[in-house]
Amino acid sequence: MPNTVLIGAQWGDEGKGKIIDVLTDEADIVVRMQGGNNAGHTVLVGKKKYVLHLIPSGILRPRKKCIIGNGVVMDPVHLVEELDGLAKLNINVKGRLFISENAHLVLPYHRALDELREVSKGKGKIGTTKRGIGPTYEDKVSRVGIRLGDLLDNDRFSSLLRKRIQSNNRILRENGAKSISYKKVLEDYLIAGERLRDFVANTFIMLHEAMTQKKRLLFEGAQGTFLDLDHGTYPYVTSSSTTSGGACTGAGIPPNRIDRVVGVMKAYTTRVGGGPFPTEDEEMGSMFHEMGREFGATTGRARRCGWLDMVMIRHACMVNGFDDISVTILDGLDNMETIKVCVAYRLNGKTIHHLPSSAIDLESCEPVYETFKGWQCSTEKCKSWSSLPLRARQYVKAISTMAGTKISSVSVGPDRNQTIRLM
Ligand code: IMP
Repeated sequence: MPNTVLIGAQWGDEGKGKIIDVLTDEADIVVRMQGGNNAGHTVLVGKKKYVLHLIPSGILRPRKKCIIGNGVVMDPVHLVEELDGLAKLNINVKGRLFISENAHLVLPYHRALDELREVSKGKGKIGTTKRGIGPTYEDKVSRVGIRLGDLLDNDRFSSLLRKRIQSNNRILRENGAKSISYKKVLEDYLIAGERLRDFVANTFIMLHEAMTQKKRLLFEGAQGTFLDLDHGTYPYVTSSSTTSGGACTGAGIPPNRIDRVVGVMKAYTTRVGGGPFPTEDEEMGSMFHEMGREFGATTGRARRCGWLDMVMIRHACMVNGFDDISVTILDGLDNMETIKVCVAYRLNGKTIHHLPSSAIDLESCEPVYETFKGWQCSTEKCKSWSSLPLRARQYVKAISTMAGTKISSVSVGPDRNQTIRLM
C-alpha cells in the first residue's frame, strides 16, 4: 500500500477507526494530522472494544509505529490517561508512539472558553465536544499558543503559561466563569510532560526519512469532510482542516507524496451537534437509539440520523479527490423496507445538484429522494460480495455510480472480520 490518506466523507462517525485498523495491516506508520481528543475512533478486536481519542488506531497492531503530527491539538493530561488505558490492556507503546514537538497544547482555559462560548450562543450553539478544540486552534492562529516542545522546558512553559492564564482568567471572570489556578495547571502539566518526554520527536524529519526508506504511511483523518473549517457547514464545524489537504499541512507532507485518498462513508448519514441536516429523519434516529446504536464515542450524545445524501458525498469526492470509498454500517439498513437516497435538493423553487455554499441555504434545502427496495435480512455474517443480498449489492453499486468512485470495501458490522474487501 502506498502513502494513503483516509478521510470521513460526512459529518464524522463514519466508522473510520475500523477501516483504519483494517488498512493498518498494510502500513508501516499511522499518522494523526488534525483535531484532538474530540475524535473517538472505535475498534473492535474479538470481544475487546477500544476507543482511541488522540492516539492513532494503528497502535492496536503490534510493531506498527504511530505519529501524532504537528496539526493535532493535544491535551497532555488526557494523553497520559489514554496511555494508561492502553497499558492496562497490555498494549506496549514504547518505541512505537511519537508526538510532534510542534503540536499545540489544549489547556484548561481552552475547555472553559469552549464551554462559555457554547452557553453564550444559546439556541444557536455549535454543540461542540467541549474539549477546548476551537479555542486551542484560535490561540494557534493568533500566535499565542503553547506547544508540546515548550512543555519540555520548565522555565519556558511556566512563563508562557503564566501570561496566558492571566489574560484568559480576565475573560473568564468578566463572563462570570471560575478562574483557572496557575499553580495547579503548572503542576499537572509538568507531570504529564515528564511522562510524555520520551515520545516527543521531530516527526517531520521522521516522516521524511520513512518516505526515503519507502515505508508505507497511512494518514488517519479525524471528524469528517462537512466539519472542515473551510469546506464544512460553517459555522457548525470543527476548527481544523478535516479534508485531504489537511494531511499535508498537519504532518508536513507535500501533496505529491500522497498516492491514494480513501473516503469512508456510512450507508446512511449521522451528525452530532447543531447545524443543517437536509435528510434528517427522526424516526430513523429513534429506531437506532432504541437498538443502542448511534451514540457518540467521545461524548455519548445521541447522534442525529437520516438518509444517505449523495449531493454531499459527490461534494466530498470533489474536495478530497477520493480514489475509492469504504461504505460502512451497511447492516444498519438491514431492517428497512424502503431506503431513501437524496440525489438533489429543492431550493427556492429550483432543483440543484450541488451543495449550496452557506449553511443558511442548506437549512432551507428540501431533499429530492430516489427510493430503493430494502433487502430486509441480516448482512452481518456476509463474508463476500456475492453473499450480500442482491438488493444490498444494487444499493452499493448505485452509490458507486452516483459518486463516480470505486467502492473498496463494504462493512457489515463492527468487527475486523465483518469487512468485505472489493479491492
Ligand atoms: P469541536 O470539534 O468539539 O469544536 O465540535 C465542533 C463540531 O464538530 C460539533 O458539532 C461536534 O459534535 C463535531 N465533532 C467534533 N469531533 C467529532 C467527531 O469525532 N465525530 C463527530 N462529530 C464531531
